[in-house]
Amino acid sequence: ETVEWDPEQAGKGEYDHFMLKEIHEQPTALAQAIEGRIDPTNGRIALEDFPPGTFDGVENVQLIACGTSYHAALYGSLALNQAGIRATALLANEYSVTAPPVDDDTLVIAVSQSGETADTLSALRQATAAGADTLTVTNVVGSTAAREADETLFIRAGPEIGVAATKTFSSQAVMLTLLAQRIAADSRGEPPADLQSLLPDLAQMPSQLEDLLATDDAAHIARQYQGSQSYFFIGRGLGYPVALEGALKFKEITYEHAEGFASGELKHGPLALVTPDTPVFAVFTGEEDEKTLKNAEEAQTRGAPVIAVCPEGHRAVEVADEHLEIPDTDDELAGLLANVQLQLVSYHAAELLDRPIDKPRNLAKSVTVE
Ligand code: AGP
Repeated sequence: ETVEWDPEQAGKGEYDHFMLKEIHEQPTALAQAIEGRIDPTNGRIALEDFPPGTFDGVENVQLIACGTSYHAALYGSLALNQAGIRATALLANEYSVTAPPVDDDTLVIAVSQSGETADTLSALRQATAAGADTLTVTNVVGSTAAREADETLFIRAGPEIGVAATKTFSSQAVMLTLLAQRIAADSRGEPPADLQSLLPDLAQMPSQLEDLLATDDAAHIARQYQGSQSYFFIGRGLGYPVALEGALKFKEITYEHAEGFASGELKHGPLALVTPDTPVFAVFTGEEDEKTLKNAEEAQTRGAPVIAVCPEGHRAVEVADEHLEIPDTDDELAGLLANVQLQLVSYHAAELLDRPIDKPRNLAKSVTVE
């Protein structure tokens, strides 16, 4: 007698899709990412490959990446700016025509899950040729980007099979947040003050994520707004890359139209698209939330249902039609918890539509052509 054994199904364990498995792996992935790299008791960051002084003299950082990794790069650039370092996130596929000048004090950081994305490798090579110091933030040991950059920071998320990047986004954003503090410490000579609150919150993030994943409220939201014409995602500050990522994930696996906007941009054009048939997911990260709430209310006035992604007790809960709860944390991490709620919304929406979630049409896990 032979037993049917499908290695792909076996790899998914109890989950129907790799994407859902990988969403649920985030507490472990994050714990692995930060293991030995932070000490919440003394407020220190210990990135083993970068002894203090590694980033002396770095005044200017360019982050290059594509897709979801670009959203993590944007998140990282904002963390760097907040830590007092000039930083810009750039689409790697635009870099050959739009690269800002590079000089002696420029560090170029390539962010790539696979380390094999052709657009990102090409931008990395261009930066190297221009004389920049380079660093890769990647998941794959031995990848081309890891081999070619001067320095590498591994996110240690474990293999990601689903074409839609999930756990690697969270790990990239967390590692870039830590790296930002590290670069600022070297370049400014002292650790930024807010580390004392960031590191304990980071240390409790894996268990907060476990709680969030245990109460999967996103399924009923996906069901409620199934069949809408378009799905909008808004956020401000660190919530902006999360809004972009929420929309990318949604379109990638549901094939429905979705767009992410900076909250304040709605009134500069996109509001013309807003109707009762365009749910608006509003991400609240504690950065000028009252303005984001006003922007969400402007959409609500035009009939759009608003789904607030925010902590319990937040004023947005009263105003919004629905809400998805995130645990209380530092402003620098809130967007990453919100992102996990949005990953779940996309997953459930795609499941209702019976999409091939792990292998969306026309897409590849690693894009090796320019
Ligand atoms: C994300 O869900 C996509 N699969 C895609 O945008 C991806 O992030 C992009 O192609 C970059 O890949 P990389 O991180 O391996 O460089």
